Amino acid sequence: MSHTIKNIACIGAGYVGGPTMAVIAEKCPDIKVTVVDVNEKRIAAWNDENLDNLPIYEPGLKEVVKGARGRNLFFSTDVDAAIDAAEMVFISVNTPTKTYGVGKGMAADLKYVELCARQIARVANTDKIVVEKSTLPVRTAQSIRTILKAEGKAVNFQVLSNPEFLAEGTAVADLHQPDRVLIGGDQDAAGQRAVNALADIYAGWVSRDRIITTNVWSSELSKLTANAFLAQRVSSINALSALCEKSGADVEEIARAIGRDSRIGSKFMKASVGFGGSCFQKDILNLVYIARSYGLTEVGDYWEQVIVMNDYQKRRFAANIVNQLFNTVSGKKIAMLGWAFKKDTNDTRESAAIYVADYLLNEQAELFIYDPKVKPEQVYADLDYLNTRSESENRRLVTVVNQPGDAMKEAHAVAVMTEWDVFKTYDWQKVYDDMKKPAFVFDGRNILDGSGLKEIGFMYQGIGR
Ligand code: UDX
Ligand code: UDX
Repeated sequence: MSHTIKNIACIGAGYVGGPTMAVIAEKCPDIKVTVVDVNEKRIAAWNDENLDNLPIYEPGLKEVVKGARGRNLFFSTDVDAAIDAAEMVFISVNTPTKTYGVGKGMAADLKYVELCARQIARVANTDKIVVEKSTLPVRTAQSIRTILKAEGKAVNFQVLSNPEFLAEGTAVADLHQPDRVLIGGDQDAAGQRAVNALADIYAGWVSRDRIITTNVWSSELSKLTANAFLAQRVSSINALSALCEKSGADVEEIARAIGRDSRIGSKFMKASVGFGGSCFQKDILNLVYIARSYGLTEVGDYWEQVIVMNDYQKRRFAANIVNQLFNTVSGKKIAMLGWAFKKDTNDTRESAAIYVADYLLNEQAELFIYDPKVKPEQVYADLDYLNTRSESENRRLVTVVNQPGDAMKEAHAVAVMTEWDVFKTYDWQKVYDDMKKPAFVFDGRNILDGSGLKEIGFMYQGIGR
């Protein structure tokens, strides 16, 4: 299929921009795709000869990059040149929760998005379609449009919303076979031409009936809503997990029983130590903020409870460890298996492990942390960022190890924080023999065989069991 768009630029080479553009380039060899980023180190890593050094770990990503890089996929720090050459510019920069001023701790910080809009306006000498790929509050497209119009030269801009629904750890598979692609655009003829140009790109590998088009505002708000619904399911099952632990019901049995109701469905019903990741909390806080800023207090309060429950679950898990270890973990070695917010990613943003570790460190535990993909400096950076204790204190109390055995040897307890498959394959008899007695396992992801562990002699506890 030949496309009206021949040249794409994407600003932001992160977890979203990188994999998304790699797949577009893979599937549309006639389109030149250039991913740009202000972070030189990140771009250098995307260009690294050794594909094991890509800045992001995602199953299958190496192969996609290998096939397209240098052919029609390029990574560069020359943002201006890429914008100038492109007919379509994706904005895929991060939109963190504001840490200052009005809306602090709630609203999305749009300063990077605004900078992108100003840069596009300054550089563009030809008409461009600007695509919001970052998750943005509803009506952001209007601000982008105003900036482009006020600062741009005599060229035409169309602004589309095309939120990304990929989940980390399955990004490539999600991009190859999306449940749907959502494109929001203006309802006039020029807007619809832009929508069609983008739809044609996806239609190269996604069937047309999965490409949904809406107005811009519906598209923007759909992304926040999708994440809010998904996170709400996790908080709902986690709320029930606490009740299960008191009542003798088993949360996995409940999930299985209710999941068979086709109206409820079986996915996203796994009780856990809490959801993490860069999106759920940020997007819900953003939703709450937007609702409240329109005076919809009850709507904001309703969604805020999803976050309240998630914080409770992380705290509850950590407090349970301390309780079970005879109300003190001071000076006790505790192994934490997993630091990433879910398996098959090296991303640690908002990982429940960070908050559980922080709680245990406040109780003066000695933590030994193992994760198959997360680098030691990331673990320390995550703890330092909390600002709860000094950097030297974090390094004194926390050891990051390369071998899981080193974490568990002579430990009082093991806490499973991420559902990495490899944790299921350990020789748990040997782990038990090497641990202090009584030996505890706290399974925050319900991935281990609890009854098997109990048989060996462990004091075993899974969420909601
Ligand atoms: C994603 C989504 O795009 C965002 O909508 C979501 O809300 C958070 O997660 P992600 O790709 O995961 O963003 O973010 P990140 O990995 O931080 O990548 C963003 C990149 O943009 C960074 O590499 C950063 O250096 C780059 N950037 C940021 C720019 O190139 N220019 C800027 O002005 C700001
Ligand atoms: C999410 C959305 O799924 C995706 O569509 C959106 O584009 C970005 O945000 P992501 O955060 O990458 O993706 O991962 P996801 O699989 O949704 O998991 C989020 C968190 O919820 C993880 O910490 C995960 O462990 C947790 N989770 C998920 C549960 O605790 N139980 C579940 O049943 C499912």
